[in-house]
Amino acid sequence: MKTANQNIKPITTCINAEGNIEIGGCDLTELANEYGTPLYVFDEATIRSMTKSYKDAFKSYPKMKMMFASKAFMTKAICKIMQQEDFGLDLCSGGEIYTAKSAGFDMSRTLFNGNNKTYEELNMALEYGVGTISVDNFFELALLNNLAEAQNKNIRVLLRITPGIECHTHEYIQTGHLDSKFGFDLAQVDEAIELIKDEYKNLNLIGLHAHIGSQIFEKKVYYDEVGVIFGEIKRIKEKHNIFLSEINLGGGLGIKYTEKDAPISVYEIAETIINSIEEHSAKYEIEAPFVFIEPGRSIVGTSGVTLYTAGSSKQVPNGRKYQSVDGGMSDNVRPSMYQAEYTVEIANKPNEKADAKVTISGKHCESGDILAKDIMLPEIEEGDIVCFYNTGAYGYSMSSNYNRALKAAAVLVNNGKSDIIVSRQTYDELCGSDVIPDRLN
Ligand code: LLP
Repeated sequence: MKTANQNIKPITTCINAEGNIEIGGCDLTELANEYGTPLYVFDEATIRSMTKSYKDAFKSYPKMKMMFASKAFMTKAICKIMQQEDFGLDLCSGGEIYTAKSAGFDMSRTLFNGNNKTYEELNMALEYGVGTISVDNFFELALLNNLAEAQNKNIRVLLRITPGIECHTHEYIQTGHLDSKFGFDLAQVDEAIELIKDEYKNLNLIGLHAHIGSQIFEKKVYYDEVGVIFGEIKRIKEKHNIFLSEINLGGGLGIKYTEKDAPISVYEIAETIINSIEEHSAKYEIEAPFVFIEPGRSIVGTSGVTLYTAGSSKQVPNGRKYQSVDGGMSDNVRPSMYQAEYTVEIANKPNEKADAKVTISGKHCESGDILAKDIMLPEIEEGDIVCFYNTGAYGYSMSSNYNRALKAAAVLVNNGKSDIIVSRQTYDELCGSDVIPDRLN
């Protein structure tokens, strides 16, 4: 069965009677008018279709638990949706912990991971009742145990391991290979376990955590990942007489940014993971553990589009046509950072023939601020609404104030209604943290 991550567009996308693109029953040109641009638009139906697909695809394995990797898109509204969808949250910073807590999220269903959690962040995690901490390294084991001891708490921990699996994705977003900044090397696991057993009495080791990378199109890497982790569980049981009852496989399922991408469906990945669990628990004679997955991109990526207003343009004599829009690398850094490609349409001209080659440039003072290079679109005029598909993941969450650009607003659309979920930053907010020392006055 197909799942929404295999679409380029949100599942509710259509062309309405006015001849404009509509998502969630809302005309994109009207949204641009009402809320201004750049504007992130999130289709609630697509998000919920993905969460439902994950639950449905894994339902034959009742010990499966879903988490949303909030780094992909974190706001209070998304926390509410995830809570309603019965997902936990994977958090990786004090800011994400704070957002979840402020949204009233059930903190016992959160996991905190990261390779350099600070003293303050770990303390905050303990105080706010974060359910589980994925410990990344020896330094953190000692630090966390001290803090838990001081707060007289016992905390559930996973050991983050690097399983040594390489997947074919951009080098920056590969994480599971051996030469990685994340997690314990398999050769260090025994020492970590001895320390927890003998010294770190406030840490309750319950399992292993791994994440092999992001924007993954292959099934086999997940099959292999389960095999490596089950092998470790068996080895740890024999060597230390500890049975680890939880494993977390991370996230990583890819989405379809352009026609060139062929991501697999949630059902395919679920079948691979469940088969591998069954095979490896039989092979190693271990009781099947609770298995967590924490997808981010595939839950929110396809649901989101970014709207821009077309502004100035430049035809280089005998060269490219540049069409500038009112956003750029501050609201979507992925093209300049990863050479990421997107599918683009003009929201007010979806039926016009895409017969003009154009390069969509951002408005920032940097030649590399190009959002889409040499794509085919209908002839663009000033004021047209340019729609970039698939910006729901790692767009807003990686946005910046470069050139003191204001952070864009985000709206959630559903059944013809639109609601602000992030309001557009104001100039007062932008300057709100600036301080002029007295001696400069
Ligand atoms: N779990 C862990 C431990 C992770 O590090 C990540 C992503 C995820 C889950 C979620 O992975 P996903 O399902 O979203 O692929 N900024 C990059 C992506 C970085 C991913 C980092 N870790 C991008 O824009 O492509």
